[in-house]
Amino acid sequence: MKVFINNKEYKARENETIIELADRNGIKIPRFCYHKHLSVVASCRMCLVEIENIEHAQPACSTPVQENMKIFTHSNKTKNAQKNTMEFLLINHPLDCPICDQGGECELQDVSIQHGESHSNYLEFKRVVIDKDVGPLISTEMTRCIHCSRCVRFGEEVSNNKELGLVNRGEHMEIRTFIEEGISSELSGNMIDLCPVGALNNKPYRYRARTWDLQQHGAISPHDCIGSNIYYHTYNNEIVRAVPKENHDINQTWLSDRDRFGYEGIYSEDRATKPMIRNNKKLVECEKEILLNKTNEIIKSTINDFGLDQIGCLISAQSTSEELFLFQHLFKSMNIQNIDHRTNECDFNYQENYPLMPSLGCNINDLDKFDNILLVGVNIKTEFPILTIRFNEASKNNTKIFSIHFDSLDEDFELAGKIALNNSDLSKFFDKKKPAINTNNKTLIIIGPNINYLVNQSQILDSITKYSKSINAQQGYLTDFCNSTSAWLFGNIPHRNFGGQPTNKPGLNVSDMIKSGLSTYVFFNLEPEHDFWNASAVTEALNKSKYNIFFTSYVTPLIERYADVIIPISTFAETDGSFINIEGTYQAYNKIVNPNKNIFEGWSILNNLIKMNNLGDYNISSIRSFLLKSLQNIDFNYSKNKKFKNINSKSITNNYIYKNTLRHIYASDQIVRRSKSLNLTEQSHNKFIYISSDLGQILNNKDTLEIRENNKNYKVKNFLIKKELPINTIVYTSSFNNTLNESKSGHITIKS
Ligand code: SF4
Ligand code: FES
Repeated sequence: MKVFINNKEYKARENETIIELADRNGIKIPRFCYHKHLSVVASCRMCLVEIENIEHAQPACSTPVQENMKIFTHSNKTKNAQKNTMEFLLINHPLDCPICDQGGECELQDVSIQHGESHSNYLEFKRVVIDKDVGPLISTEMTRCIHCSRCVRFGEEVSNNKELGLVNRGEHMEIRTFIEEGISSELSGNMIDLCPVGALNNKPYRYRARTWDLQQHGAISPHDCIGSNIYYHTYNNEIVRAVPKENHDINQTWLSDRDRFGYEGIYSEDRATKPMIRNNKKLVECEKEILLNKTNEIIKSTINDFGLDQIGCLISAQSTSEELFLFQHLFKSMNIQNIDHRTNECDFNYQENYPLMPSLGCNINDLDKFDNILLVGVNIKTEFPILTIRFNEASKNNTKIFSIHFDSLDEDFELAGKIALNNSDLSKFFDKKKPAINTNNKTLIIIGPNINYLVNQSQILDSITKYSKSINAQQGYLTDFCNSTSAWLFGNIPHRNFGGQPTNKPGLNVSDMIKSGLSTYVFFNLEPEHDFWNASAVTEALNKSKYNIFFTSYVTPLIERYADVIIPISTFAETDGSFINIEGTYQAYNKIVNPNKNIFEGWSILNNLIKMNNLGDYNISSIRSFLLKSLQNIDFNYSKNKKFKNINSKSITNNYIYKNTLRHIYASDQIVRRSKSLNLTEQSHNKFIYISSDLGQILNNKDTLEIRENNKNYKVKNFLIKKELPINTIVYTSSFNNTLNESKSGHITIKS
């Protein structure tokens, strides 16, 4: 279709609006209420433009183009209309730009300078709206609100969690939360970005810097396996805020609160800032050279005195691809095979037949192309909040989404069905009862990280795999850490080498490493208190071992107590890095801030050790080009990816009380669990343990649970009965302040 804007011809698409055509061609039209991912309400009238043969200027956001339409974005009629609208919008807007955090990036300020007048005809008092405290993440100055309703529509249409609404009319109109509630959704920070004025601001960032003094660094968020694209804004070499970086294929224009505020944990007081070695039972500060020599000496002497199989090397899948590659290269080149990253797991029978690496089973953009999606052992709302937006789109597109879990959890998108089963029934469900779906339809089964923690995960994976093969469904995974794909692919597992190559002699999995009590343990980016399936077993292993080497960004009490060497390493933000997300997209970024002078970049300190042992010499670009070359041979084509084999199973059939653990949204990794703002949220206040109603009846109104687990007794006070839980079930939530000393899943008894 031929359309003319400012006398120049453009090709328009069917059903396109004027603003869409103008945006596509770089023609600027001012707007407030319009946003490309929200419905069109045409309420602010800022986008009025002249159209030939129409008496009054028309809103560009809601007017569809027509053949031969002639639009004028700079004519006098357009300018007058926009000027009048601007004057009207400024009637009540305060002139507090010098003290407003939005200053310098305020759409109202910009549009007012370009399209407004320098004087106002309005001489009456401006209205004042009383502010509300809506929570720890968003600050409000509602007198500045221009009622564009973007924030309201975001809740209604995108996050499906309506937290703000418009009340009253005319002069009395207000944007408010409901019945004095706060804002607590997992995607709430997006309303800060959407607000075109300074009415909704980033609370933790408030008054910390002026926008024009900030430096912007594009990066990849490390807080889930989706890999949201993000801009970190720095001031004096410190990250002061984060905003989304648009990527249509991954996070579109959105960011979860965990990604937006998680970085605060980088500045936690327990950062490891000094190289330390243990001397006469005391940790003492040392020079880098002494640190490297000591580390190398421990590795060498363990190999010589006790044997290759007496070293256990454990790395977090939160590490960058460069670190994961160099870590396994260092140890596997020395023929050490005890390497693993699956520290939250306990049942590894599945490993031989597991795919090359976990992957979602489709591109993120294609989630809405399935007729059915079965979510098994995953709560999207709290584990992958950014995907709530995608599942919302999918359910609006008639995809039927079902949740099968050991807990009954809410989602912010429509579920076609929800079932909570205990661990034993979960493994039988796909063999016997089977989900109520039309199996002729296109189905995706996504297995979530909560399944990984279970003592019978192999049995469940086996039964799902058989089922998905029988109905020709796609099978995918969502992993608990951001870079599990790299960890698997680059050989941080005991039974495969780089690229999935088989090993001659598989090493021990993490659980066997811990149980066997090895001579030396090497931990990279892991906290014994929080990052293991069984924290007390790890404590015992650390206590018995001869040496413990920690490459770590934080010094926890257990690290301080048991480390022989502490190598302070960078967080993701203080190094060049890359991650492979769950759909297989490799994304690299450059260092955002410089670390303290005694903190080493993870990849570089590993390379020092590699060089010392004559095992090569790498730099960031040589690692990246090597990894990218090897990735070219990986088949990420999901339509062909149906090569799942049946998995060896280990069953649990006993009739016992199942203890399960859900990962807390704001305790999911080392950095997030230290974010002060996220720790103030409503989610972080929930420290309850939930028990099924049958167990509640046994207790006879007692207010303390006496639990026996792994031959130990302990008491729990803050528990609640949850009637939706399957029988014989107790569910813990792992959070920073609720250290779980015992295993994350398994068998317990309760004293009645
Ligand atoms: S608070 Fe901001 S986004 Fe919400 S209606 Fe007011 S101006 Fe628009
Ligand atoms: S942007 Fe078109 S009316 Fe608001």
